[in-house]
Amino acid sequence: MKKIFITGCTGYIGSHTCVELLNAGKKIVGLDNFSNSKREVLDKIKQITGKNITFYEGDMLDKTLLEKIFTENEIEMVIDFAAYKSVGDSVSKPIEYYVNNVSSVLSLLQVMKEHNVKTFIFSSSATVYGNPEMIPITENCKIGGTTNPYGTSKLYVEGILKDLYQSDHSWNICIFRYFNPVGAHQSGLIGEEPNGIPANLMPFIAKVANKELECLNVFGNDYDTKDGTGVRDYIHIIDLAKAHVCGVEKLNKEKHGLYIYNLGTGAGYSVLEMVEAFQKVNNIKVPYKIVGRRAGDIGVCYADSSLAEKELNWKAELGIEDMCRDAYNYINKK
Ligand code: NAD
Ligand code: UD1
Repeated sequence: MKKIFITGCTGYIGSHTCVELLNAGKKIVGLDNFSNSKREVLDKIKQITGKNITFYEGDMLDKTLLEKIFTENEIEMVIDFAAYKSVGDSVSKPIEYYVNNVSSVLSLLQVMKEHNVKTFIFSSSATVYGNPEMIPITENCKIGGTTNPYGTSKLYVEGILKDLYQSDHSWNICIFRYFNPVGAHQSGLIGEEPNGIPANLMPFIAKVANKELECLNVFGNDYDTKDGTGVRDYIHIIDLAKAHVCGVEKLNKEKHGLYIYNLGTGAGYSVLEMVEAFQKVNNIKVPYKIVGRRAGDIGVCYADSSLAEKELNWKAELGIEDMCRDAYNYINKK
C-alpha cells in the first residue's frame, strides 16, 4: 500500500491528522525536525492508534533527505504542515520565515516532481484574506493585504501552487485555509504546546485557568461585535484533522485539479464568549482584564465553509464546549 508523506507530522495539526489518517487505515511516512514539537508525540500517536508511522528526523530544506524519503518509500501524496507559525516572530525574523515557509516548499515540490508524485495538500490560513472584504468569508473573497511575513509566506506559497498548476494540469492540489484550530485529542495525549507565553487565545486561557499565568488580557472591547471583543471561527482540532482525511479521498477521486477550501465551523464567537464557555464547561475561573487592541488584529473573521461541505462531504461537528473541555484536559494531563 502506498504511503502518505506528512511533513511536520509531530506538530499540533500534523499529529492529530496522523491519528485520523491511521484510524482511516492509511499508511504514513512522516518528517519533522522537532523545531516546534517533541519526539514523544510519536509514542503518543502509537498509543492512541496502535499503529506505527515510518519516521524521519530532519529538515524539509534538506533535499538529500527528501530524495532519500521518496526513494525508500512508495509515496502517493504529500500533506505539508512543516512551517513556522508565530506572527510576532515572523516580524522580527522575516528571512528565517520565508526560507522555512517558502523555500522549503519549493524543495519539496521539486523532489515531488522528480519522483512524479503530483498530489499535494497545503496548510494555508484564513490570514491570507487580510482584512476580509465580507463576512462570512468565501473562498472567492479577495486575498492579500497580509500584515506580517507569516501571513505573506502563506500567500506566496498559494501563488506558487497556482502557477504550478497553471503550468502543468496533471498536478492535483488542495489548499486548506484553516480558521482558528483549538482543543486537543480527547485522550489528552496530544494537543497544542506553544513555547513560552502563548500568543493565541485558547492556549492563553488554558494557562490562566491552570494558574501558570495570572490573567488574560482581552485585546480591545471596542470592535463592532456583539460585546465589543474580537470574533473568530474556532474549530476543534479533531474536526480539522478529519477534513484532511476527506481531502485525501477527494484528491484520490479527482486525479488532477486545484481546489481551495475554507476550514471553519461557520460560526463566530467573541473572546468573552470563549472565556465564559471555558469557565462553565471546566468549572474554573479565568480572570481577565480589558486592554487595548493588538496591532494587526481585525474585528471579525469567520468562514463560509459550505464549499468544503458540498465537495468534501465534511462538516465540523464539535462545538465550543468540546473545544474548551479538551484544551483544558490536555493542559491538565501533561
Ligand atoms: P506546529 O508548529 O505545531 O507544527 C509544525 C511542525 O513542523 C512542528 O512539529 C515543527 O517542528 C515542524 N517543522 C517546522 N519547520 C520544519 C522544517 N523546516 N523541517 C521539518 N519540520 C519542520 O504548527 P501547526 O499549528 O501544527 O501548523 C501546521 C501548519 O498549519 C503550518 O503550516 C501552519 O502555518 C498552518 N496553520 C496553522 C494554524 C494554527 O492556528 N495552528 C492556522 C493556520 C495555518
Ligand atoms: C492569529 C494570527 C493569525 C493566525 C491565527 C492562527 C495575529 C494578528 N494573527 O489569529 O495570523 O493565522 O492566529 O494561528 O496574531 N486575544 C485576546 N487575548 C490574547 C490572545 C488573543 O484577547 O491573549 C483575542 C484576539 O484579539 C482575537 C482572538 O482573541 O480577537 C483570537 O486571537 P488569536 O487566537 O491570536 O487568533 P487570530 O487573531 O485569529
